[in-house]
Amino acid sequence: MKIAIINGPNLNLLGKREPGIYGNESFEEYYKALQAKYPAVEFSYFQSNVEGELINQLHQVGFEVDGILINAGAYTHTSVAIRDAIAGIKSPVVEIHISNVYARESFRHTSLIAPKCVGGIFGLGMKGYELGLQYFLP
Ligand code: DQA
Repeated sequence: MKIAIINGPNLNLLGKREPGIYGNESFEEYYKALQAKYPAVEFSYFQSNVEGELINQLHQVGFEVDGILINAGAYTHTSVAIRDAIAGIKSPVVEIHISNVYARESFRHTSLIAPKCVGGIFGLGMKGYELGLQYFLP
C-alpha cells in the first residue's frame, strides 16, 4: 500500500507555529512515529509553501499511489488550481486539517478542494493524518 502525504504552506512550521492551535509537535516527529506504527505502508511525504509545487507533486504521485492525504493549508480556501489537480489525478485524496476550520474565521469555512476529495478530517489535531490513513487500509 502506497500512501502520499502532501502538506501545504506554513505546515513546515508545525511545532513552532501558533502552538495553541496546531500543537507542539513538528510534522517530522509525527511522521517518524506514523511510519514506525505502520511498517507495511510505503509512505512518501512532501511539503511546499509554493502552490505550483504542490500541483506538480499531485501530478507525480497521483497516478501511482493508493491514496493521498493532503493538508493544503490556506490554499484549501483559495486554490482552484489545486482543486483541478485533485480532480485530474487517479489516486483518491482525503483532505486533512489539524484545526477545526469551522470554529475559526469564516474564510476558513469554505474548502475549494473538498468536492474533489473522497472525504475529509478536521479538528482532530495531528491524529487526523492517521485517521485519514486508516480509511485507505484494508
Ligand atoms: C489548516 C487550516 C487552514 O485554514 C490554515 O490556513 C492552515 C492549516 C489546518 O491544518 O488546520 O495553514 O489547514
